Amino acid sequence: MNWLLATLRSSVGKKFVMGGTGLFLCFFLVMHLAGNLLLYVGPHAYNTYAETLHKNAALLVVAEIGLFGAMLLHIYLAFTTAAENRAARGSQGYAMKQTKIQGRVINFLGLSPDTTMFISGAVIFGYLCIHLCDFKFEVFADEAMRAADPFAKAQRILGSMSRKVIYGIAALTVGLHVSHGFASAFQSLGLRHPKYTPTIQVLGKAFAVFVTVGFGSFIFWDGERARRSESERAAQHAESPEAAAHPATAVPAAPSSQP
Ligand code: HEM
Repeated sequence: MNWLLATLRSSVGKKFVMGGTGLFLCFFLVMHLAGNLLLYVGPHAYNTYAETLHKNAALLVVAEIGLFGAMLLHIYLAFTTAAENRAARGSQGYAMKQTKIQGRVINFLGLSPDTTMFISGAVIFGYLCIHLCDFKFEVFADEAMRAADPFAKAQRILGSMSRKVIYGIAALTVGLHVSHGFASAFQSLGLRHPKYTPTIQVLGKAFAVFVTVGFGSFIFWDGERARRSESERAAQHAESPEAAAHPATAVPAAPSSQP
């Protein structure tokens, strides 16, 4: 534990942990998006995924501790490094809003990258509170929704206009945050090289588009359509000679109503 405290006290260590936790959270985003994309496949596929995820409770708790631990460290370091940067700058401030990434100046709405990252991080944190209240703690759910399966629950939440707006803003904000954070994390980990840094920057932008489009797409997701097409595929499969040979592979037809 001492090594962690010592690392978190040194400025190189802070950067390193900030970059490491940032990349770990990017990895979580990819896995989370991959799982959520099963909503497009249909209720059977998505509910099976959700059930599998929750089956091993001990493993889930370990993964959640790792995830929320990384998030808290990331946020704590964002605050402490911002305070240190401010103290180092004194009352002068920078004349130019320069990033760590060589020669590039971020001028989003005239804000410095530090400020942009801070504001977008705070918006993502606010979104996460609502998101966890929606899906994990079911704070706003009624009886019918608590009893519903994960697909039907997602259908109800993502079908609401307030959530379309909130989830849309979150997708854009996560994209903005990683568009700078992805490449910046590599720099913080000391992986800076004139040959590779431009490629990492392009990858960061591509990752930002991928995350924004991927998560943003759910505000247009039509759960009923996914439900119908999975049922049609199941019916076609049931009629095929293959299904007669392997009845265990049949997908049960899903009921079409929402909770
Ligand atoms: C519209 C797209 C999204 C959908 C449909 C979705 C769905 C879900 C669901 C079903 C859960 C599981 C709750 C449970 O454990 O029962 C969850 C958890 C979570 N989501 Fe999302 N999510 C979306 C977008 C996001 C985004 C953009 C972020 C990050 C900024 C995010 C971060 C999280 C986190 C941190 C958890 C908690 C994970 C855990 O407890 O293991 N989600 N989400």
